[in-house]
Amino acid sequence: MVDPDTLLADALAQVDAAPNLAALEDVRIATVGRNAPLPLALRDVGTLPPEERGEAGKRLNITRQQIEARLTQRQAQLESSALADTLANDRIDVTLPGRAMPHGGLHVLTQTRREIEQIFLDMGYAIAEGPEVETEFNNFTALNIPDDHPAKADSDTLWVSDGVLLRTHTSPVQVRVMGAQDPPVAVICPGRVYRRDTQDATHSPIFHQVEGLVIDEGITLAHLKGTLEHVTKRLFGEDRKIRLRSGFFPFTEPSIEVDVSWGDGWMEILGAGMVDPNVLEHVGYDSTKVTGFAFGMGIERIAMLRHGIPDIRMLYDNDVRFLAQLSNS
Ligand code: DAH
Repeated sequence: MVDPDTLLADALAQVDAAPNLAALEDVRIATVGRNAPLPLALRDVGTLPPEERGEAGKRLNITRQQIEARLTQRQAQLESSALADTLANDRIDVTLPGRAMPHGGLHVLTQTRREIEQIFLDMGYAIAEGPEVETEFNNFTALNIPDDHPAKADSDTLWVSDGVLLRTHTSPVQVRVMGAQDPPVAVICPGRVYRRDTQDATHSPIFHQVEGLVIDEGITLAHLKGTLEHVTKRLFGEDRKIRLRSGFFPFTEPSIEVDVSWGDGWMEILGAGMVDPNVLEHVGYDSTKVTGFAFGMGIERIAMLRHGIPDIRMLYDNDVRFLAQLSNS
C-alpha cells in the first residue's frame, strides 16, 4: 500500500511547479487521473483486511481532496496571470502616431502649367482661355495662315464640320483677346490643342501649349528677348542662356525659334516673333501705332526637358509609379 503522505507531498510539489495551464493539466492526469497511483490505491482498498479498509479509504479520499483543492487553486492562479499577460501584450498605445494614408498629388503637367502661369502672373500678365472647338477663321485666317498652308490640310487638322475644327494651337486665343479688348495687352493662354498626329515618343494627338501675347506702343524684339531670358532662367535655372534663330510663322514677322543652353549644346523650347501687322489689322488694331510680340510653347516639351522624361506617352499612361516620382506631395 502506498503511503498517502508521500503521495500528497509529491503531488502538491508537482502542482506548485506547473508553469502554465497545459502543464497543470498534465499534472492533474498524473496525480488524480484514472491511472494515477492514488486512484489505483483507492481501487485496491477492497483487497485490504476488512478492519483496515475504513481508515485507509478515508485517508486516501482526504488526500485526493487536498490535491484537487490545490489543483483548483493553482489553476485560478495560472488563469489570472495568463489574463494579465494578454492584457499587457494586447495593449494599444493610443498616443502612437497614426499610419499615414497614401495621398495623391498634382500631375506633372498641371504642376508645369501652374509654374509657367506663376512666372507670367508675377510679371503682371493676365491669363486668358478660349474654346477647344474653334472656327477656321480664328485658328487660321485671322492668324494670316493662307488657305494653302500645309497646317490646314486634313492630314494635320481635325475638322468638326465645315469651318469648325479642334484648335491646332493656342494662337486663336490671341485673336479672341485682341477682339475683346484694346491695347495694352499682356496675356498668356494655356490650353489643350489637337493635331492629327500618330502617337509616338515625341508626338501626341492631344497636347498642351501656352501662348503669350504682349501688345502696346513701342514693343520691340528686345522686350521679347528680355522676357524669354527671364522665363527661361526661372524654368531651367539661372545659369541658362537663350539663343534666337530665325524661323517662320505666318502670324509673326520676324519669326524666331528659341533654344535654351543644354550642357554643351542647345535645345529648342519655343517659337515666337513680332506679331505680323496683318494679324493686328484683322482684329482692328492700328498697326502703325501698336506693335507686339507673341510666343508659343509646348507644356509637355518643357516638362519632358525639365524632368528628363524620354517619352511623351509616359505623361498620359497614368502609371502611378511614374506619377508618384514627379508628384508634388
Ligand atoms: N502656334 C505655334 C505652333 O503651334 C506656336 C507659336 C509660334 C505661337 C510662334 C506663337 C508664335 O505665338 O509667335 O507651333
